[in-house]
Amino acid sequence: MQSLDVIVHAVSLASATSHSYELRAAPGAAALPSFEAGAHIDVRLGPSLVRPYSLCNSPRETGRYLICVRRDDTGRGGSRTLHRDLHVGRRLRISPPRNHFPLVAARRHVLVAGGIGITPLLSMAEALAAREAPFVLHHYTSSAADAPLLERLVASAFAERTVVHHSDRGDTVRTGLPAELLAPDPDTAVYVCGPDGFMTHVTAEATAAGWLPGQIHTERFAPATPATPTAAGAEVTTEAATEFTVRIASTGIGYPVPADRTIADVLTSGGVEVELSCEQGICGACLTPVLAGEPDHRDEVRTPEERAADDRITICCSRSRTPELLLDL
Ligand code: FES
Repeated sequence: MQSLDVIVHAVSLASATSHSYELRAAPGAAALPSFEAGAHIDVRLGPSLVRPYSLCNSPRETGRYLICVRRDDTGRGGSRTLHRDLHVGRRLRISPPRNHFPLVAARRHVLVAGGIGITPLLSMAEALAAREAPFVLHHYTSSAADAPLLERLVASAFAERTVVHHSDRGDTVRTGLPAELLAPDPDTAVYVCGPDGFMTHVTAEATAAGWLPGQIHTERFAPATPATPTAAGAEVTTEAATEFTVRIASTGIGYPVPADRTIADVLTSGGVEVELSCEQGICGACLTPVLAGEPDHRDEVRTPEERAADDRITICCSRSRTPELLLDL
């Protein structure tokens, strides 16, 4: 992947289970590019272990990236590796920031975070506060001890526009939506980020309250679609998969993609270099231009309109509706 050399400048506790990492350009390396609120970076943690993490500092800050990572003992291992191995002074390779969850033009913004889903929304809140735009931030957590970045929220310039909810006090999104979501407003944009069940519930309730789907912007940390493992350990959706051929434009070589393997897996095995990060269709790192053929999109990182253009495909999870796909690689 296109990469930046960084060094872990500082590590701090962000909650009982979360660490905050400050990354700066490594000595002699290029300066860090600027980023937009909602952007994430891919962090290379090992030869075949890359994970996406949202940037949670203000986009106005130059010279450092902040990420916050909650240790998930039931996850695929990225957060455990990161908590164990990332110490001050460690050099890392990361991707430049990319943004699939941008702030949109709206008169008012409602930000709704569940747990570690606060990270991109915190960067958005910083950006909105800096431009004095009207917004409110709701953060739902299990308890004060387990609320990522709570101290920073409480000390922020937008603390008065922040409402923190703790489920151990009976205050959950299931006991009632934030008041702002009960009154749909055509000039307001809603952003939701958090665990899958949280996002599904908030989105469904907000839609039932009268918000239009185009007003609700989401970013997932895990795919909502049930998935089954492939032989290679990657994931595909449970929708029936069939074999097809993927052809590389630069070489003309075609590679058969069996039903139980992903395009990325087949290309990697064939020695074709591809960019990967989440390998679940939720980060966009593997988006590849399509020159011919009709992709069967299975990612959750792009809008329906973006997928309908059929000009790019997430090769970690998507497949083909035509016998052959020609990729611009
Ligand atoms: S690697 Fe993240 S969408 Fe494909």
